[in-house]
Amino acid sequence: MSQGLRLGESVMERLATLARYSETPDNLTRRYLTAAHKQAASQVTSWMEAAGMSAGLDAVGNVVGRYESEPPGAPALLLGSHIDTVVDAGPYDGNLGVIAAIACVGDLAARGRRLPFAIEVLAFGDEEGSRFPATLTGSSAIAGRFDPACLDSRDEAGVSLGEALQAFGGDPAAAPSVGRAPGAVHAYVELHIEQGPVLESKGLPVGVVTAINGANRFAIRLAGMAGHAGTVPMALRRDALAGAAEMMVAVEEIGGGGDGLVATVGRIEALPGSVNVVPGEARFTLDVRAPEDAVRRRAASDILARFHDIAERRGLDLTVEETHDAAAAACAPWIMRQLDAAVAKQGIRPLRLPSGAGHDAMAFSGFCPMGMLFQRCTGGISHNPAESITVEDTDIAVRVLLDFIENFEPDA
Ligand code: GLV
Ligand code: MN
Ligand code: MN
Repeated sequence: MSQGLRLGESVMERLATLARYSETPDNLTRRYLTAAHKQAASQVTSWMEAAGMSAGLDAVGNVVGRYESEPPGAPALLLGSHIDTVVDAGPYDGNLGVIAAIACVGDLAARGRRLPFAIEVLAFGDEEGSRFPATLTGSSAIAGRFDPACLDSRDEAGVSLGEALQAFGGDPAAAPSVGRAPGAVHAYVELHIEQGPVLESKGLPVGVVTAINGANRFAIRLAGMAGHAGTVPMALRRDALAGAAEMMVAVEEIGGGGDGLVATVGRIEALPGSVNVVPGEARFTLDVRAPEDAVRRRAASDILARFHDIAERRGLDLTVEETHDAAAAACAPWIMRQLDAAVAKQGIRPLRLPSGAGHDAMAFSGFCPMGMLFQRCTGGISHNPAESITVEDTDIAVRVLLDFIENFEPDA
């Protein structure tokens, strides 16, 4: 291992190791509270312990590592990201921020350096919402915002989040108590891949995030009438999937309205799902995001109004369940300034940019000051197995994070 990229190389090696913990053998799928998540959590716990932290699972399945302050017991700087993934994921989304934070603590510990504040590294279990219709479960719980209603949400196999949490080794009844007292925390700071093309287009390895777009998610169900594909005349059909298709066209049209607005149908299912049956039921998801909350709310309500019109005209029963509503979250100016300074010390021009993707950091907005550092990823590709970063960029990002930590001044 060349000494020059020591931090970047060790982080990349661990990321490759972590990517082996998957529900499926040929790709990376690691959803919340699965056996693969449990294996990844225990690997992360061992790395935290080796880096000089006390570490373990909390009641909602987060891995929590603490590097004590000098003198002990001081409020903490929270660092971290998530170790759950989307289906057929890349290895860096979320995982980078966890492994990089552990590497920073490991470096401090190796030098015997204690700071006047504690460092807690958090490996959240549910940022993606890819198993249950819930999202940011772990980070919201740490921010004292655990919603017990999420325990009743069910995955596609009918397993409730509460049952899965119990089987995982968590404690549903204790979940609300993992929330930190506001005075126990200075700030939350997260390193994450950009998941977009801006840094690459500017030729920069890292950038400082200004704010995270707000998001709504919905689970949509359309009920029509199943029938014989050969006998039911077109004019007499109540085809739920054709109705969903018309709705998707409306999503694309309204979502293209500008102001940074985006709207996506990411999953769709037709039931009963047979080549010769008119679909009697369709279920799909809707995700709407924008930098401005008012723009997002207006778009979501326009889309749902169009859904109602389409359903009525086609004789379909429409059910809409909102599964996520997160306001746009601004990063703290004083954290941005300290991150800018750490970026500049690596000889890199500090660039500020907003985040179109959601992140655990948004769960802390309003609870404690938060900030984010983005690392360039190739082609801006993410939520895709082709996700890629370089060891050189990773080394720089870890150095920036380490410098930020060592010079961290609460609220300055
Ligand atoms: C999380 O990755 C999201 O933005 O959906
Ligand atoms: Mn992520
Ligand atoms: Mn993601």
